[in-house]
Amino acid sequence: MIRADLDQLPSYVPGRSIPGAVKLASNEVAAAPLPNVIAAIRDAAAGVNRYPSNSATALLDSLGARLNVPTGQLAVGPGSVALCEQLVQATCGPADEVVFAWRSFEAYPIITQVVGAGRRMVPLRGDHTHDLPAMLAAITPQTRLVFVCNPNNPTGTAVPREELVAFLDAVPNGVLIALDEAYHEFVTDPAIGDGIALSRGRDNLAVLRTFSKAYRLAGLRVGYCVAPEPVVTALRKVSVPFGVNSVAQAAALASLDVAGELLAHCREVAAERDRVRTELLAMGYAVPDSQANFVWLPLGERSTAFNEHCQAHKIVIRPFAGDGVRVTIGDPQENEIFLAAAREWRSVRG
Ligand SMILES: Cc1ncc(COP(=O)(O)O)c(C=O)c1O
Repeated sequence: MIRADLDQLPSYVPGRSIPGAVKLASNEVAAAPLPNVIAAIRDAAAGVNRYPSNSATALLDSLGARLNVPTGQLAVGPGSVALCEQLVQATCGPADEVVFAWRSFEAYPIITQVVGAGRRMVPLRGDHTHDLPAMLAAITPQTRLVFVCNPNNPTGTAVPREELVAFLDAVPNGVLIALDEAYHEFVTDPAIGDGIALSRGRDNLAVLRTFSKAYRLAGLRVGYCVAPEPVVTALRKVSVPFGVNSVAQAAALASLDVAGELLAHCREVAAERDRVRTELLAMGYAVPDSQANFVWLPLGERSTAFNEHCQAHKIVIRPFAGDGVRVTIGDPQENEIFLAAAREWRSVRG
């Protein structure tokens, strides 16, 4: 009954949860939703006997006003990962290909294979950044979609605006670029651009953002996409009806009312990120500059052992065997617990 090719499909590995442990595995913001958002969730709960707005009209209106984007160029979905998948569904059939960097967000190869499209994975450069010229060279007549994850998960590295613009200008018109900005709100380097500003006047750029990280709603699943109208129309065609539930819509709407406070907190997280990186560098770890709410330790073959060391200290991080570990920035106390474990690892393991 089941498609034979699904046997080869790697499963998405969610960050583990261990009771009582410090959870630095899933790039969430450690702080709870703000009180007005919790109140909106409570109020919306009383109406869940009804279907949600399929068009998420109020949320689209508010997002559109905030971003200065017409609502016809906006789509929402149950997490930006759902929108990533919808972009593959909307652009690719089995004969088509998707290009993305590797290592990058681990959902890209999975959703590509689920749709049955081919994939070209272009290695990151030695400094863990996207190799955009190599990605350009990997585009073939079969390519329909290119993912650029900026900042990149799991390395935290980001492509500067000028390099990105040169890439956007060079990608052929018939290829859609999906600029995944799930971590945009943590960017502090002024050289990194804003995808939504860059998307104006382009007809082959879709920008993905999420309420899961900066907006603290990972458990409710809301993401959005800013794209040219024909792309948004196609996204709506392939989406599951009522994908964003009514509680999630209400919470996202309420969180836009307090965006200033949420974004100010992101700057605090970014300052913590820079502090954690500086401390790790001083301990002798290699850590690329991160513009996201996590840091990447390219520990290679020692990644699994480092992860086990952290687990023994009741810290859950995200290991990528043979490659590195990704550590989410938590609150300052959680970060201290991680730094102490990292310091101990250096003194014991060198
Ligand atoms: C780069 C990137 N894109 C998209 C997502 C998906 O986020 P969500 O589906 O929660 O919006 C994640 C989640 O970790 C991510 O790291």
